Amino acid sequence: MLRRPRRLRATKAIRNLVRETKLQKEDLIYPLFIVDGQNIKREISSMEGVYHFSVDMLEDEIKELVELGIQHVILFGVPDDSKKDCCGSEAYNDNGALQQGIRKIKEVAPEMDVICDVCMCEYTSHGHCGILTEDGYVDNDKTLEYLSKIAVSYAKAGADMVAPSDMMDGRIGAIRNALDENGYETVAIMAYSAKYASAFYGPFRDAANSAPAFGDRKTYQMDPANSNEAMIEADLDIAEGADIIMVKPALSYLDIIRRFKDNYDLPIAAYNVSGEYSMLKEAVKKGLLSEDAIYEAVMSIKRAGATIIITYFAKDLAKFIDANK
Ligand code: PBG
Repeated sequence: MLRRPRRLRATKAIRNLVRETKLQKEDLIYPLFIVDGQNIKREISSMEGVYHFSVDMLEDEIKELVELGIQHVILFGVPDDSKKDCCGSEAYNDNGALQQGIRKIKEVAPEMDVICDVCMCEYTSHGHCGILTEDGYVDNDKTLEYLSKIAVSYAKAGADMVAPSDMMDGRIGAIRNALDENGYETVAIMAYSAKYASAFYGPFRDAANSAPAFGDRKTYQMDPANSNEAMIEADLDIAEGADIIMVKPALSYLDIIRRFKDNYDLPIAAYNVSGEYSMLKEAVKKGLLSEDAIYEAVMSIKRAGATIIITYFAKDLAKFIDANK
């Protein structure tokens, strides 16, 4: 036999030498949930090891992330029910908990990359990602005005990047214009380009208290059965000025990540979502899987073509990477 692939699997050193995909701490973005109130660090029941933080409790968490070598966070605001209204106005309150959180993080760790998810579902009383018409349809063009206001408010507070996750048509262009008009042309946009109407967001909706009060998100998020449609969305987002394109969820959509990788030169991100997290976390906790399954799953997202990975496992992975140095 001339070719024996096993030769390159013979020792750990050789395996390391020929390894094609390596997860690095720099690849990882850690999601943080910021709530109203004080003195709150509360574990989210559907997501073990993930917490709600009030702004005054962020400092230790940020210091821990810096210590672990995690350089990027994505923020989600979880306002009190009393602050929700039809139009999500708390989302663009320049003094809202999220905006205060941005300022706090920049104060504690100026070098930390602060990304803000831009969406309305956490802030609207009806839990939909936009402004509703009288018959309960999400009004696309009206919603664009609000998303733009929200993005500008985050930029004003010091966000480095905004990540629109609403799936309205034309939102990247609208947000890019609004940012530029307000002098934030250096704030980048990471577009949730292919965001599917997925059942894997369940634990997040618990965490963010953002489940729709009626109906579902299928008139704006994508049908999980579609792949070509993801290309249309990415083409539009890129034409409208997206700096990074994202696929979400990640693990059931590795084929979409690979299609993006093969077709676009922009950096590609993937969101390893809450359901994917809780599923694995619970299986490891129950002893059904070893912890290596976490590394393997997240690494597969990178192998598929995403160089940027949003994951609740970021801290676990940073520790794993250190331990295996
Ligand atoms: C907001 C938003 C959602 C997630 C990120 N941004 C929920 C949704 O669309 O219902 C899900 C993230 C996760 O499941 O980890 N629209």
